[in-house]
Amino acid sequence: MSDNDFDYGPLTGLIGTWNGDKGMDIAPEPDGTEHNPYYETITYTAIGDVENAEEQVLTALHYVQVVKRKSNDEVFHHQTGYWMWDAKASIVMHSLQIPRAVSVLAGGNYNGATNDDGQTVIEVAAASDDETWKIIESPFMAQKASTRSFSQKISVGDGKMSYSQTTMVDIYGKKQFVHTDENELTRS
Ligand code: HEM
Repeated sequence: MSDNDFDYGPLTGLIGTWNGDKGMDIAPEPDGTEHNPYYETITYTAIGDVENAEEQVLTALHYVQVVKRKSNDEVFHHQTGYWMWDAKASIVMHSLQIPRAVSVLAGGNYNGATNDDGQTVIEVAAASDDETWKIIESPFMAQKASTRSFSQKISVGDGKMSYSQTTMVDIYGKKQFVHTDENELTRS
């Protein structure tokens, strides 16, 4: 059986390599915000299933996201992680790591949501004070640039994918800076 033969539920449409050049990042700066138009490649690889404590079965995709600034073509964001589907509990989970020493385990229920275009709509969230879906960061980041919450919505179907995400950061002595990213991608 190939890894693509497992049931990845709402994640199925993500498998493959995606490119998009309509990205917009709004990031914190000491004196306000920075707007960064970007392009990126995201590759989702099906990796089969895992069994936990002989009772929970998760199917999973591993992904790598490489984001480049349009202004200079340099990589300015790199991210990796897993998307997991728990079919029995109808829960989607997204674990992500970024090389600022920040890790997130975001989760959400999936009950067949679609948009007007018939795309699958997946939503996950995490927060530092959430009971279940949490954020871990280095001592430096906890003190200087603490990620308080993360939420993400992905719409995928018919070879197209779009996402929007909001990361709330306490930074430069201010609370709850709204750091956002969004893009539209097509599968190659
Ligand atoms: C497409 C996705 C993303 C892009 C393009 C992006 C880009 C950026 C940029 C340009 C900055 C400002 C950096 C600087 O001034 O040196 C920044 C800061 C930050 N980002 Fe992101 N980011 C993304 C996603 C995320 C995610 C998913 C998280 C965490 C869950 C995150 C957490 C942070 C934090 C904590 C900072 C503050 C660090 C600082 O400015 O010194 N970012 N990001």
